[in-house]
Amino acid sequence: MKKSSETAAADRRLSTVARHLITTTTNNEEEENGSFMISSSPTAAAGQSVFSNIVGAPEDPILGVTVAYNKDPSPVKLNLGVGAYRTEEGKPLVLNVVRKAENLLVNDRTRVKEYLPIVGLADFNKLSAKLILGEDSHAIRGNLVTTVQCLSGTGSLRVGAEFLARHYYQHTIYIPNPTWGNHTKIFNLAGLTVKTYRYYDPATRGLNFQGLQEDLGSAPSGAIVLLHACAHNPTGVDPTLEQWEQIRRLIRSKSLLPFFDSAYQGFASGSLDKDAQSVRMFVGDGGECFIAQSYAKNLGLYGERVGALSIVCRAADVASRVESQLKLVIRPMYSNPPIHGASIVATILKDRNLYHEWTLELKAMADRIITMRKQLFDALSARGTPGDWSHILKQIGMFTFTGLNTKQVAFMTKEYHIYMTSDGRISMAGLSSRTVPHLADAMHAAVTTVV
Ligand SMILES: Cc1ncc(COP(=O)(O)O)c(C=O)c1O
Repeated sequence: MKKSSETAAADRRLSTVARHLITTTTNNEEEENGSFMISSSPTAAAGQSVFSNIVGAPEDPILGVTVAYNKDPSPVKLNLGVGAYRTEEGKPLVLNVVRKAENLLVNDRTRVKEYLPIVGLADFNKLSAKLILGEDSHAIRGNLVTTVQCLSGTGSLRVGAEFLARHYYQHTIYIPNPTWGNHTKIFNLAGLTVKTYRYYDPATRGLNFQGLQEDLGSAPSGAIVLLHACAHNPTGVDPTLEQWEQIRRLIRSKSLLPFFDSAYQGFASGSLDKDAQSVRMFVGDGGECFIAQSYAKNLGLYGERVGALSIVCRAADVASRVESQLKLVIRPMYSNPPIHGASIVATILKDRNLYHEWTLELKAMADRIITMRKQLFDALSARGTPGDWSHILKQIGMFTFTGLNTKQVAFMTKEYHIYMTSDGRISMAGLSSRTVPHLADAMHAAVTTVV
């Protein structure tokens, strides 16, 4: 008997999860690859917890940096691990425009706290699709796109992955090497098989364009390809528009399925439209495409968990059936998404003045990050730190992929109380004019004393 797509997906997931369960190593690299540890069966000794054999899991490689930072009593400690914006004073920022939208919402006595529909807030979904695809997108005009509100970027990726595992014939997804640490886990645990394509070239600290083309060129027809829409995390290296066009042609010629992760729209260049160009190029050719959007960084709504998954189809009736199946994915996971954050976003996106104010605040954040790049570069030049640091200026978005190795990172944490991920990635958004000299001193010492 033929299995239903849901049963087949569940089977696949079980086998994928089982494969991970076999891995009981504490090796950090395995953890990065989406594996987790299992504990042996509980002994049934009287009075003992049935969970007494549970193995303590390591901290998340990114969020664990903040845990370690919080424990450090040093007054000069600096957290450059997590990708969250900080002001010049090192404080988290709530955008003015968000405060204004929240005031409007709080003072609106007609608002109630009823459940949203499974797919979320309708206005939010429409406006989010417009934001990423553009006002005049043919996909929106032709009802070719279905958008569902999800739990920020992570939730949007996961819902998209679950949908693909159930309804798409190819279960291999290619993700860039390196990529955001959570990608592998999200796709693996949804039941997809994760492979990597070459992306970063440590020798040039730039894009390995040839490697990328070779790897995608030899991917099986129909394979899913994860692309960072802009401000690639962790490398800060993006393809040029010409390179994007070549990637688009390659992907379409091999009938690969693009899945965009757009976590930094507006954060890379300061312009929402410019940062959406890669996505619009793909949607403009009439082909199909997935897009996961996050409002964590660009609206500073991190903890509100606001995001959207859009699936662009070739026909309106397909888009509508896709949406009906997305509901079946979402309902047993969390029923329906939260209302507050999406209402903030919708309030801003539908009001011309608020939207304009947002673009100014966003540009100010992006510009401050660019200033930090320049200051760090100048500080290293002033110290005569050995090496070419021009990539600090060239890389795009929130992060600099410094090229510092694990030992150098450990040295900087131990001696200078500077916290960052072990791959040498630093969040430029966590720096300020006051802290740049401390970071430059630490980098100089690391490079000159640790190999
Ligand atoms: C590349 C990338 N994708 C997705 C996300 C998801 O973020 P969130 O779930 O907070 O929206 C992040 C966050 O750091 C990211 O860097």
